Amino acid sequence: MGKLDQRVAIVTGAASGIGEACARRFAQEGARVVVADLQAEAGKKLADEIGGFFVQTDVSRAESVQAMAEASQSEFGRIDILMNNAGIDGDQAPTSKSDLDNWDRVMAINVNGTFYGMRFVLPFMIEQRSGVILNTGSTAGLNGLPGLPAYSASKSGVIHLTRSVAVENAPYGIRVNAICPSVVQTPLLNHFIETSPEPESTRRNFESMNPLPGMVTTEAVADASLFLVCDDSAFISGVALPIDGAYTAR
Ligand SMILES: NC(=O)c1ccc[n+]([C@@H]2O[C@H](COP(=O)([O-])OP(=O)(O)OC[C@H]3O[C@@H](n4cnc5c(N)ncnc54)[C@H](O)[C@@H]3O)[C@@H](O)[C@H]2O)c1
Repeated sequence: MGKLDQRVAIVTGAASGIGEACARRFAQEGARVVVADLQAEAGKKLADEIGGFFVQTDVSRAESVQAMAEASQSEFGRIDILMNNAGIDGDQAPTSKSDLDNWDRVMAINVNGTFYGMRFVLPFMIEQRSGVILNTGSTAGLNGLPGLPAYSASKSGVIHLTRSVAVENAPYGIRVNAICPSVVQTPLLNHFIETSPEPESTRRNFESMNPLPGMVTTEAVADASLFLVCDDSAFISGVALPIDGAYTAR
């Protein structure tokens, strides 16, 4: 018996990194997974490997997210789990020198994308009187992060949206939580390191940033995510769970 037998789970940003690890983990536990991503080739490949269903999705466009929700519902007849995970780090610059388009792009994907996911999947969950939503926040949304104003504000927005939607939808038996990883070895993190002013020292800082040794692995994030989307966390809603080896406990 898997922890997610008979469940239908949508994972956005599932073609890479954290989303891919979670999609694989949820499928191992018996879920039928909707792989939703901009990247068609990698997304289809993963869907084939895990027996999932690929839907090309741009989370920054409301009509694309609505089509993703409707395609998932018509393919499987229900949606039990939504993981709003697609996100970008954007450009690094101090606030006084920040590019205005970068602000809009990061907000469009990280905040609007998370909102659109909930906006278009919640009606199906409310009708079912059940559902679990997991949003990918970040420790950047809990602690101040210099040089990345759009990203940190976007993740703070994701965390607060999570809390508000959790309270609002609790009467329908719907749980809504967020995960807040610190530094996870993924293409997004490599982009961050390579575009920083001193990539080698940034990498070294990240390697020693968490009190627990090393960086967070995608598998550790997938394990924590599985806990929050399965019945083991049946009465947990509205939390933003750090996965950070005690980084935010300092
Ligand atoms: N890597 C880290 O250290 C870290 C830490 C904390 C939080 N996060 C968050 O985890 C999430 C996943 O990041 P990751 O590190 O796995 O990155 P990643 O770059 O490996 O994966 C991100 C995925 O999102 C997809 N994507 C990007 N824009 C999209 C859009 N508009 N519509 C649909 N899909 C889109 C990409 O194609 C990619 O497959 C992000 O929300 C990120 O902010 C990452």
